[in-house]
Amino acid sequence: MLVLGIETTCDETAVAVVKDGSEILSNIIFSQVDLHRKFGGVFPEVASRSHVDKIIPVLNEALILANISLEDIDLIAVASHPGLIGSILVGLNIAKSLSLALSKPFIGINHIEAHLYASMMGENELLFPALGVVISGGHTMLLKILDIGKYEKIGSTIDDAIGESFDKVASILDLPYPGGPEIEKLANDGVDKYKFLAAKTKDSPYNFSFSGLKTKVLYTVKGQSSNKDCPNIIQDSDKKDIATSFQTCAFTDLIEKSLLAVKEFDLKAVYFGGGVSNNQALRKMFEEKKSTPIFWPLKGLSLDNAAMIAGLGFHKFKNNLLSDGLDILASPSYHLDFFS
Ligand code: KG4
Ligand code: ZN
Repeated sequence: MLVLGIETTCDETAVAVVKDGSEILSNIIFSQVDLHRKFGGVFPEVASRSHVDKIIPVLNEALILANISLEDIDLIAVASHPGLIGSILVGLNIAKSLSLALSKPFIGINHIEAHLYASMMGENELLFPALGVVISGGHTMLLKILDIGKYEKIGSTIDDAIGESFDKVASILDLPYPGGPEIEKLANDGVDKYKFLAAKTKDSPYNFSFSGLKTKVLYTVKGQSSNKDCPNIIQDSDKKDIATSFQTCAFTDLIEKSLLAVKEFDLKAVYFGGGVSNNQALRKMFEEKKSTPIFWPLKGLSLDNAAMIAGLGFHKFKNNLLSDGLDILASPSYHLDFFS
């Protein structure tokens, strides 16, 4: 079964063709990062306009690379939530138009769920119940995965998402957007000099709070500066140590809570999803402490992409043969029925 995947929830315009849920025939991604850098983050209207410009060229490229025509497609899967509404609407309307014009079924996909699927794609055997760890620019969540499509929430951030905190700390350190890869690079050469401690969260041992950590970084930077007029100008070696200390604190917190959940809920494996799972230091730290098998997103599928949308679309359609009507709506948040 050939599935066309479409992803436009944030700042990547992506189209992929995936066969039977895991064989990637094409996976084209246009990243808008250069357009947003001067704003220090994603500027929603700029994102929507760029999706409008790029969606057709990216679609054509994906079809050419997969060596198929639109008529060959069996299903159209599109990320319909959560994300930036103006951006989602571009992909969703293209998907609806193709579905109507070609008389092919289409299905709206949860972007977060698709991030998790990126680490299941191509695995012959899935080990459930498992822990799902979603660590992206917009979300930080621990989930119990009972099956594809069946999840229970264990915990989530009560303020900033982990990727967002990498981006904000990078901005404090005067590094370009997106901050995650920049912090990772700096952190490779620093030491955990500041030994930051993660904030305690009241309601659940599985919730996260990253905004206090970001403030600690801010005050550490201000304390280091020798230039009163430019409090953000500090020595490169201090920047490296701050990056290492921040990253170590955020990942130690994530790993401790993940391992606690694996133990308490007797989970058989850990599946990661989202841009932060691209971080090699996190992978190394987690692998050293793991108590069960860990699955990371396939190469190139940590960040936003449409192959994960197409792959998950295949499973959802195959399992219950449900497709969506043309009346489904774009949504900025995940639907409540995401959790069973
Ligand atoms: O999953 P994603 O592409 O988009 C969302 O759905 O949000 O994640 C983007 C986030 C950004 O915050 C970015 O800074 C972060 O992932 N990120 C990283 C790394 N690469 C991307 N964070 C830490 N280390 C990285 N290597
Ligand atoms: Zn994402």
